[in-house]
Amino acid sequence: MKKLWKIVAFMFVSIVLVACGNTGGGTASSSTESGTGTAEGKTYNVGVAIYKFDDNFMTLYREELAAYFKKLGEETGNKYVLDIQDGKQDQATQTEQINNFINQKKDVILANLVDPTAAGAIINLAKAAEIPVVLINREPEVAELEIWPGKTTYVGADATQSGTFQGEMIAATSNKGDINGDGTVNYITLFGDPANVDAQQRTAFSVKALDDAGIKKEALAEPYLANWDTAKGQEVTAAALEQFGNKLEVVFANNDGMAVGAVTAIEAAGRKVNEDIYVVGVDAIPDAINLLEKGRLTGTVLNDHFNQSHTAADVAVKLMNGEDAEAYYWINYVKVTKPEEAELKPATAKTETTEAIKVRYAERDKALNN
Ligand code: BGC
Repeated sequence: MKKLWKIVAFMFVSIVLVACGNTGGGTASSSTESGTGTAEGKTYNVGVAIYKFDDNFMTLYREELAAYFKKLGEETGNKYVLDIQDGKQDQATQTEQINNFINQKKDVILANLVDPTAAGAIINLAKAAEIPVVLINREPEVAELEIWPGKTTYVGADATQSGTFQGEMIAATSNKGDINGDGTVNYITLFGDPANVDAQQRTAFSVKALDDAGIKKEALAEPYLANWDTAKGQEVTAAALEQFGNKLEVVFANNDGMAVGAVTAIEAAGRKVNEDIYVVGVDAIPDAINLLEKGRLTGTVLNDHFNQSHTAADVAVKLMNGEDAEAYYWINYVKVTKPEEAELKPATAKTETTEAIKVRYAERDKALNN
């Protein structure tokens, strides 16, 4: 009898321990297995700072981020309250918005910085308030991610790869970009903005891919600053067409917005994309895919807002649960010369440490200078 009582007592203690284990993790999940019966999620406050709302790519990103957090909420029973702010391309405005996030004690901050060199100051502010930071889209200096390791991270795509893909698409055309057959590819570049790593790397690596393919190339002008903007892309391309005429064979646009503007200018000047000039962009925004479908754009590169935003949200959740994040999460770009290649499908991010990236970037810079 005594023995039976001992067994019953042991079983009771075990059940209590299991119940505590299920609820005691301190994280978000509901306590359905604890036997208490009520499944109640937690509320998380997420501050999202976008460099400016009026940007094609960041609009796709922002909308997908909100949709994905909503889905996560439905799946987990948690509530993710997103406060998404428009930085209006002004760092002072954005810093104020991030300060507000800190005063409001958000659980995490996702930041698409206006000026990536502000990352250090922002991370220091957040660190003092113990609010983890997920930087997105505009890559900071490696040193900034070393300020608060584990609690700050960058989720993005490696701009070098997108530039290389642009050059490779030109190299893969029937005449390797040399439309007028004079032995040299004469090109111009439409530049995003100087503080942006995506603009810098795409500019450098698009033409490096021509070098690597053994193609002779020559820039007709310094990169035209066009601020990622369609109207500006159109304006500078129109001016280049007037100045260089049929000499101009390739337009490398740092993004699709500017590429779409270039196509408008080219067609207005009575020229035909893919017949007497090539144009490549990056992002795979719907306008670009439309042109591609009609043979009015040579190619683009999918800047995968779908997987980038999902990864950023997943990493944010991890941080809100008190876990550490890796320094970098990378989503691959995808070469797009046919609309179906821009299809969005789930992908897993590759992680990288700050130590590894320093080695990789040193090698990359060396390759560029050779
Ligand atoms: C995109 C651009 C966008 C920029 C914003 C880049 O990755 O290609 O279209 O304007 O991000 O930072």
